[in-house]
Amino acid sequence: MKLLVTGGCGFIGTNFVRRMLGKHPDWSIVNLDKLTYAGNRLNLLDLEETNDRYHFIQGDIGDRTLLMDILSDAAFDAVVNFAAESHVDRSINDPSPFVTTNVQGAQNLLECARRRKVGRFVHISTDEVYGTLGDEGKFTETTPLAPNSPYSASKAGADLMCRAYFETYGFPVLITRCSNNYGPYQFPEKLIPLMYMNAMADKPLPVYGDGGNVRDWIYVDDHCLGVELTLLKGRDGVAYNFGGDAEKTNIELVRTLLSILGKPESLITFVEDRPGHDQRYAMDFSRAEEELGFVPTVDFASGLKKTLAWYAANGTWLEQVQSGEYRTFMESWYEERA
Ligand code: NAD
Ligand code: DAU
Repeated sequence: MKLLVTGGCGFIGTNFVRRMLGKHPDWSIVNLDKLTYAGNRLNLLDLEETNDRYHFIQGDIGDRTLLMDILSDAAFDAVVNFAAESHVDRSINDPSPFVTTNVQGAQNLLECARRRKVGRFVHISTDEVYGTLGDEGKFTETTPLAPNSPYSASKAGADLMCRAYFETYGFPVLITRCSNNYGPYQFPEKLIPLMYMNAMADKPLPVYGDGGNVRDWIYVDDHCLGVELTLLKGRDGVAYNFGGDAEKTNIELVRTLLSILGKPESLITFVEDRPGHDQRYAMDFSRAEEELGFVPTVDFASGLKKTLAWYAANGTWLEQVQSGEYRTFMESWYEERA
């Protein structure tokens, strides 16, 4: 199998590339990544240096000329599109790059892949396209799309474009919608690595609102497994939900994290809530269980310990990705919220 993976230098893409090349000796991967603040080429540098089945190209999924060129170089069996602006708070500050990459970029990638007759297109979406839940129920694939943030609206826009490419052109597009991932290589603007970093520095842990919002956490390898199964066994034109069956309130998660790290709960600081903050996500992934044989394999307690151990062992990585633009963004964010 020859794959074009986009956004492979980000959190989930890095884990996916490593997992697929390790598991499938006959697969090769071209990774196209723009290297935004969230993309780190060093994540996969060892593969660049030692694995001739891995090839990196720096570039934008919005670049038509580049994509037509890459896709014509060789026949790709599939495209897996992880490339996106992924952080909700950034989308609240400035929605524009989210529309540019997540909607226009995704459409450009679809168009080039269709013209170059790529065999299959797996688009990585999110549970956030469904909006928010109350205390009861779960999202299914037939839950109407009702995004609440500029980020989730841009992801929903791409999902609808994927649907249109399947319905209009018969292009074999599949969509995955997953809940909150955690694990190695997650950029420290997201809840778990941010809280880890602040706790270790004895800095305040900023919990939005009352900390009662619920997320369903899935270890990143399990999401990668879901994407792999979708690629290999999914039905064209179909969306698949993935989740970890691990619903936690944010405050519960932060307290657990502090207890594992042996840090005091006095570090918790409640700050102004995120505007339009979705209350609860929970995934019904029975379609993926029944059609793809998907079962999440990592329970939250061991996954969290494994994740924190990875960050503890990779302090240099944390230092490296926090430099520059990230620091500036976080400083102004804290100033506004304090
Ligand atoms: P991330 O922000 O860590 O990585 C995104 C990657 O995309 C980066 O390497 C970045 O450089 C690259 N990129 C951004 N714009 C690009 C462009 N125009 N062209 C090429 N590359 C570009 O994101 P992530 O958390 O790894 O998420 C990956 C995908 O999974 C996203 O589509 C996201 O919406 C989706 N998703 C994420 C989660 C989660 O919990 N993190 C859950 C469900 C779905
Ligand atoms: O559900 C899938 C989505 O999960 C993905 O589509 C997104 O790309 C990914 O960023 C993530 O979105 P969230 O907004 O849920 O993740 P985040 O880590 O930003 O926040 C998780 C929860 O923690 C959320 O309820 C907001 C809260 N939070 C977050 C931060 C960064 C805090 O209370 N304090 C914080 O500092």
